[in-house]
Amino acid sequence: MARLVIVSNRVPVPKGRAASQPGGLAVALKDALQGRSALWFGWSGQIGKGDGNDTPSILDAAGVRYATIDLSDAEHRLYYTGFSNGTLWPLLHYRMGLVEFRREEEEGYRAVNDRFARVLAGLLAPDDVVWVHDFHLFPLAAALRRLGVRNRIGFFLHVPFPPAALFAALPRGDGLLRDLACYDLLGMQTEEDSQNLRGALEGSGLAARVEAFPIGLDAEGFAKLAQRAARSADTRRLAESLNGRALLLGVDRLDYSKGLPNRFLGMERLLRRFPGHSRHVTFLQVAPVSRGELTQYRALRRQLDELAGRINGQHADVDWAPIRWITRATARASLAGYLRLARVGVVTPLRDGMNLVAKEHVAAQDPADPGVLVLSRFAGAAAELGGAIHVNPHDPDEIAEGLNTALTMGLEERVARWHDNTACLKTNSAAQWSRGFLAALNA
Ligand code: G6P
Repeated sequence: MARLVIVSNRVPVPKGRAASQPGGLAVALKDALQGRSALWFGWSGQIGKGDGNDTPSILDAAGVRYATIDLSDAEHRLYYTGFSNGTLWPLLHYRMGLVEFRREEEEGYRAVNDRFARVLAGLLAPDDVVWVHDFHLFPLAAALRRLGVRNRIGFFLHVPFPPAALFAALPRGDGLLRDLACYDLLGMQTEEDSQNLRGALEGSGLAARVEAFPIGLDAEGFAKLAQRAARSADTRRLAESLNGRALLLGVDRLDYSKGLPNRFLGMERLLRRFPGHSRHVTFLQVAPVSRGELTQYRALRRQLDELAGRINGQHADVDWAPIRWITRATARASLAGYLRLARVGVVTPLRDGMNLVAKEHVAAQDPADPGVLVLSRFAGAAAELGGAIHVNPHDPDEIAEGLNTALTMGLEERVARWHDNTACLKTNSAAQWSRGFLAALNA
């Protein structure tokens, strides 16, 4: 079997023996990396060191070779903070109003992609299959082709792709579309994203293979993790602290795409409009701080601090507060236990590529007494999870109504909805996702 080369901005380089807990892409790619030779290339996560040093650091672990390079301070500012997260991230999440465009950032983004290509080209063997991940690396295949690389190169976009008319607002967006057309296969999360990208490509007179491969989960593995975690001290501590109250749970990076202010307001509406829930529910939002170097992210954190404080101030009692809000990182196993405990999973992003937390909530449930998922219509997962209560995340009242429906739902309906959702998790696992993509890339 040909060697598989994964390229992503962040690389989950294993850190020592003390079981670091891989999340995200490392978990999704576990099957693809097993039993074959593999290389994973990208940024080391280090800034400022090794300015312009193109010799990658190499680490071999569990059959995978990890090769990483540092970014200089300027590269990090222009490529990561600037163009990737200040321009592309809001644009791809349909938030033109938040987009900041600076030419020097776009040029810095291209320069880092060129540098990645130079270093990677030196590591490639002729029959390696290359799989590039996410929006940081749109121009990578084009840069590799310019260096004479002839390997198969596929790309998967983990986030949404907006309608062509919106993408057209991006200065020099045409150039990025030409870059994307250099991939042998473009994988998207949903049919809607695929149609949007195809529309943008066609509008620029370009053609490429674009197909939807909705990312999945190792549902059985996650269910086991959640079952074990439910007995852990951590989860028991949470369970005891609830004092018999229903737990509503949100787990997200602290990002403006996740719709957190509206979710907090939805909680407030729930207490106002359905006062019977007062004192009988606790909403826990876990939202580890993310991309704190960007103004919008810092402003969001302040806004949520203020909202949580105000809502608690108005509705709390001496022995109960409706909102618990945690901004530090929480271990994956603990989260699995919390998700199992949650009577309601609250997943209301304004726009999301897939949202694996939605699928994790389903996988974590006790089949005999499952909780209910309240899910944004604009998460990729909504196309698959028909058993969730779908809400418009822009409307706190609709969120409150969804929460009320979830909280008052009888066991029979909860079980039926959970079965609906589970069926989809089974037909579309993480392993099937990576196999499907790689089979299409090799076809
Ligand atoms: C999203 C993106 C990933 C990114 C992750 C964390 O899930 O799709 O590419 O790695 O957020 O964001 P960060 O900027 O910390 O890498």
